[in-house]
Amino acid sequence: MCGIVGYIGGKDATPIILNGLRKLEYRGYDSAGIAVLNNETKIEVRRDAGKLDNLVNLVAREPVTGSIGIGHTRWATHGEPNARNAHPHVGTTGRVVIVHNGIVENYQELHEELAAEGVTFNSDTDTETIVHLIERYISKTGSLEESVQKTLQQIRGAHGLVVLSADEPDKIIAARIGNAGGVVIGYGEDEMFVASDIPAILDQTHRMSFLESRQMAIVSRKGVIVKTFDGKPITPVIQTINWDPIAAEKGEFRHFMQKEIHEQVRSLTDTLAGRVDFEKGIIQLPQLNLTSETARKISKIIITACGTAAHAGMVGKILIERIARIPVEVDIASEFRYRDPIIQPGTVVLAISQSGETADTLAAMEEGRLKGATTWSIVNAIGSQAMRVADGYISMQVGPEIGVASTKAFTAPMVDLYMLAILLADLRGTLPVDQRKKLVNDLRLVPDLAGRCLERELEVAELASELKDSKNALYLGRGINMPIAYEGALKLKEISYIHAEGYPAGEMKHGPIALIDKDMPVIALAPKDPWYEKMASQIEQAKARGGKVIAVATEEDKKIEQLADFCLWIPPVPWMLSPILTVIPLQILAYHIAAIRGLDVDQPRNLAKSVTVE
Ligand code: G6P
Repeated sequence: MCGIVGYIGGKDATPIILNGLRKLEYRGYDSAGIAVLNNETKIEVRRDAGKLDNLVNLVAREPVTGSIGIGHTRWATHGEPNARNAHPHVGTTGRVVIVHNGIVENYQELHEELAAEGVTFNSDTDTETIVHLIERYISKTGSLEESVQKTLQQIRGAHGLVVLSADEPDKIIAARIGNAGGVVIGYGEDEMFVASDIPAILDQTHRMSFLESRQMAIVSRKGVIVKTFDGKPITPVIQTINWDPIAAEKGEFRHFMQKEIHEQVRSLTDTLAGRVDFEKGIIQLPQLNLTSETARKISKIIITACGTAAHAGMVGKILIERIARIPVEVDIASEFRYRDPIIQPGTVVLAISQSGETADTLAAMEEGRLKGATTWSIVNAIGSQAMRVADGYISMQVGPEIGVASTKAFTAPMVDLYMLAILLADLRGTLPVDQRKKLVNDLRLVPDLAGRCLERELEVAELASELKDSKNALYLGRGINMPIAYEGALKLKEISYIHAEGYPAGEMKHGPIALIDKDMPVIALAPKDPWYEKMASQIEQAKARGGKVIAVATEEDKKIEQLADFCLWIPPVPWMLSPILTVIPLQILAYHIAAIRGLDVDQPRNLAKSVTVE
């Protein structure tokens, strides 16, 4: 969704902002713009629809320079994605300019009010009301800070906002209300940065702090003053973000998604690092603050998430129920929040989120908290809201994930959930020591086994060439690999635009079997797990209807090799860890199909990396 970058310092702001916007492209956007304060006197704006290159070319033709500026990538909500609706938006006086992330929920009302006062609107956006309101208050108070404060108290919804005034050229004001995405402040030497997301400024500084809801930051070259909207001073906590900026580059790979698929050996190694003591056979997840007493009080866990993260949660349900014998429900976050869910004493609401900023997931956490649940999160983005508001968290430790289609941030939380299940069972005293040691020891080989799946990329790519013109695909799985059928189908549809459905294999005979013919590839997950025999017979049923079956199966499995038309092999692995491997060939398959079709793999149409609006 919308990305924001701002700069104040002694250098030329334009390349810094354009470079920051480049790093935010992955969030998904459909237009972009920049505003720079020229000679500290005049606001110059450049905006264009489409890809960032259009804006870069525009700036090359019509340069803007200055040492203070803001930039934006827009994901349209109100008003078409054209140059006129792109941010930044300047007010009537030409002296104030803003970029914004969020939806002004009462914008109709504000629009009418401002229009009645004689304000002329130059765009169809809700955002433009904000800049006019700020100007209205400046004309009364003369102060940018006070005017921003007053405006923020008048707009409804969740927002991230950055404002610049030609009359106060020594500052940028940034503010956050609710969960429309983060606001990150970056600390440099005699220069400061603001952004919606860490990667935007990671090659400029590693020292960052984060705004909480209803806080604003007055950012100058020398530093920042943070306050609540009521004027209460806040001391920002500066964190050192150890993400490697190179990790946010494509390197030798064609796309970020391909790079991130290949990074899984590393990300899975990092996921285990510091958490697993293989000598003692124990798991440590200190940020959850769990004790035997608190673990014993848990009566139920509700996992809530969106998209790929929800699929990881479905695997987690089986792991936690099997290992820790605690009942687990998995709820799609956008459904959970409006259902008036029943939260009984001892319930934990566990959110899973790569970005930690998904609006629905945050709202589901809030719903849980209000109803008395303990809230936990498994989250990747350091300092994100889902990490900060939870009572306890597990950090994914996979580094920045740029490709919109999530890959390494899918396999890591499955390992986190496996570790969580062991820890809970251990603390509740229900896991015999030898079993615990076995389960822990099984983790040892996971990164290497993932590597063996990656070595088979060429075989998968070969299949991708065969399937590239398919119109549909059906993914089937059972038990712990059923969510992998959902995930495989999601990967294919989101980046290749081929219609794909994931289905619990046992349900095939209740509907999808009618779809099977020679033109419908059926991707069946049939590794050696407790549902293996059942899956083998589903494959037979699909074959009997003339279907073309591609099986994800365990190396050396002659039976599946004979039944299926094509096999994607994974090495032998204990069944509870099998989803971490079975998904890898499906990630590679989706990637290569989309790449052969010449599609924009990392930024598929209409999708956003962090969905910060409802
Ligand atoms: C978007 C992304 C998906 C992601 C989902 C949840 O739809 O495109 O890749 O799985 O949001 O995001 P989160 O950041 O909460 O994991």
